[in-house]
Amino acid sequence: MQNGTNPPITPGLEGVVAAETRLSSVNGQIGELIIAGFAVEELGNKATFEETAYLLWYGHLPDRHELLDFKARLVTLRTLPPATLHLLKVVATQKVPAMDALRMAAGTLNLGLSNSHEEAALALTARLPTIVAAYWRLLHGQEAIEPDPTLDHAANYLTMLNGKRPSASQVRGLETYLNTVVDHGLNASTFAARVIISTQSDVVSAVVGAIGALKGPLHGGAPGPALDMVFEIGSADRAESYLRAKLERGERLMGFGHRVYKVRDPRAEVLAQAAAQMFQAGGDMTLYELVKAVEGTAVSLLAEYKPGRNLQTNVEFYTALLLHGLGLETDLFTPTFAIGRVAGWIAHCFEQVKYGRLIRPQSAYVGERDRQWLPLQER
Ligand code: COA
Repeated sequence: MQNGTNPPITPGLEGVVAAETRLSSVNGQIGELIIAGFAVEELGNKATFEETAYLLWYGHLPDRHELLDFKARLVTLRTLPPATLHLLKVVATQKVPAMDALRMAAGTLNLGLSNSHEEAALALTARLPTIVAAYWRLLHGQEAIEPDPTLDHAANYLTMLNGKRPSASQVRGLETYLNTVVDHGLNASTFAARVIISTQSDVVSAVVGAIGALKGPLHGGAPGPALDMVFEIGSADRAESYLRAKLERGERLMGFGHRVYKVRDPRAEVLAQAAAQMFQAGGDMTLYELVKAVEGTAVSLLAEYKPGRNLQTNVEFYTALLLHGLGLETDLFTPTFAIGRVAGWIAHCFEQVKYGRLIRPQSAYVGERDRQWLPLQER
């Protein structure tokens, strides 16, 4: 309660519209995700990640010249400042989770930069993959690999991570993943970024805050457990008994259900198709077919056990399949999500700076009043 008024409280700000945006639109009733005017199905498997980032930041698809220039600016910023690499080496000895390492290292990224929002934006986008790949290798007792300036963003990330060049279908798979998760309305991490930049703070601070928000299991999600579930099931004929037993125990099926989507998450289909193409190119569709079978059984059992709840496949289910197919271990799933989402966070920062207003909601005080101060010796 403030100013003597009693405004209604909306816990979690659910349903509250706090900003206008041209970046993405999420319609959970019809399963529609629009990214800067493009349906996710149209953009996801066509654009390179650099094209998507450019589109979100500048509002149009780059022409050949603009794209070359944008890519070149990213490439020159990929290498980490020595202090960032040193920090990662120290942190690796403590074996901290990759998302914590990413958050700490991201905080160093304005070292040596000017105060320009755009320069920070480019450095963050270019260097998040370098941080994740370097940290992962250091954590496993390997040397970090220098970025390769001849490779595009997605191919360079996989090369720095695995020490070998990915196939064209793997690169396409990762590009599609990064494009698909790049922006998703006013989700928690994006909102956190907008709150921070709305105080006229800087883009690095906004992205560090967003990484902190993404790390939480209610947001960065649980593609790891979704994959574990598929592996535990092992073969399609075991799916029904396994899933039924889980539901009988009152457990949740990972990779299903969504706060906003009441139909199949449109990103699930884009990622399923990308995974199919990648596994087909790799010549082994066994896991893909198992995942499909598990999905079908899970959706029909959820309808049986939770009628009227409309529990459908969410983005995490096929994220797990796709990223696993790329050879990524589950601890890398959320950091890789951040590598895609950073372009969205930054686009929201630009939008907030241009059109936004200091974000400062109110709270309703429900505490005591008229308390009397007690000196320390009397408490
Ligand atoms: N498996 C089984 N039951 C589920 C379920 C799932 N994956 N998701 C929701 N439910 C059930 C709940 O138990 C609840 O049932 P009840 O009313 O009988 O108690 C009902 O559906 C509504 O659940 P609720 O928690 O209110 O929905 P929500 O909108 O808050 O939850 C999620 C959204 C994503 C948190 C939830 O669906 C979930 O936990 N999914 C599994 C984890 C996951 O995939 N997370 C990644 C999301 S991108």
